[in-house]
Amino acid sequence: MLRGGLIPRRPYVISGASGTGKTILAMQFIVEGLKRGEPCMWVSLDEPPNELKANMATFGWNLDHLKILDATPDIRMHKRKSVIDVGTTLDVRDMEEVKGIRVSQQLRSMEVSIHSVQKMLKQEFFQHQERTKENYQRMAIDSLTALKMFSLVGVDSRIMIQSFMRFLSELEATCMIVSEHLDTSVIETEFFLARGKMRLHKWLDGSSIRRAISIEKMRGSGFDDKMRPLTIGPNGVTVDPSGRVPLNTTVVHALGSQFLKTRIAEQVTVSIEKAFEMAEQCRHQGHDISHVQMDLTRAMLMIQMGHLHDAMEMVERVRLGMELLLKPKSEAPLPPPPPEEARGI
Ligand SMILES: Nc1ncnc2c1ncn2[C@@H]1O[C@H](COP(=O)(O)OP(=O)(O)O)[C@@H](O)[C@H]1O
Ligand SMILES: [Mg+2]
Repeated sequence: MLRGGLIPRRPYVISGASGTGKTILAMQFIVEGLKRGEPCMWVSLDEPPNELKANMATFGWNLDHLKILDATPDIRMHKRKSVIDVGTTLDVRDMEEVKGIRVSQQLRSMEVSIHSVQKMLKQEFFQHQERTKENYQRMAIDSLTALKMFSLVGVDSRIMIQSFMRFLSELEATCMIVSEHLDTSVIETEFFLARGKMRLHKWLDGSSIRRAISIEKMRGSGFDDKMRPLTIGPNGVTVDPSGRVPLNTTVVHALGSQFLKTRIAEQVTVSIEKAFEMAEQCRHQGHDISHVQMDLTRAMLMIQMGHLHDAMEMVERVRLGMELLLKPKSEAPLPPPPPEEARGI
């Protein structure tokens, strides 16, 4: 379906409702890396590592060489004290440098969670590099939704997710981000910033559960855009790449109108992604782009509320502004010719 696989060192999203197979698929991706001797890391936010290992044991996967970072206590208890449990050498006092967004209890806990997970990853990558002279090549985060649970629904938390996604890209590991799909009409922030997105589906067919997978986006390569049957068996997830999913009314109903909506929103999404790339260029050139980030966040919010036209207008305006900033020097109007005396006439 991917026409050859994932392009390495980029972040991807696996989304789907609970029980669709996200954790199993992400782990299968990691296990494949372990088999090839690649250093791999799993960030556990949904279930404690011992439970995860027990669940995965049914597939006979050997996780001895997998580095599992347990961030569940942080997420579960959400007390400042527990942040220390997350990484042994983490000091909560270091977190004090994060401030100035808005002082609200919820947002503070959000800051601490994302910040501590980010810090924990940075530290682990660095130490691993020091120790082995190798980088982690595969990584999974299960799930980003757990990390977002405590966020305010608003602009600030989205900006934090944006910066977290940027951070993940910079780690240069192929990263699977699991995203629990709570509301099918919502397009999550991470969907915009991932290089590819796979969605897992589940519905009831009579008395049996059926599953399917579809690829909704894959930058830089072609892909099969049909929905294909997926089964979970003793060896993990199996996809039938030529199988068909009969789109009868039950299935269509079960999947909702999201499919259609996603297609419609795709154009705006591509536009926002381009704008993000331009914003990066602007940032490299030393321009202040905080207003751009704010406007793009607003545009994403508009998409989520179904105001696609308004979103498009906003994005186009932002892009126009950045185009002016990015204009190469040679295209700038020529300076007026020097006075005639200076040219010796
Ligand atoms: N050994 C197995 N054989 C078949 N199905 C399994 C097996 N282990 C788990 N499952 C199914 O996989 C589902 C859970 O998959 P999981 O990846 O944890 O979902 P998600 O992470 O999307 O919530 C469960 O609904 C369960 O029915
Ligand atoms: Mg799961």
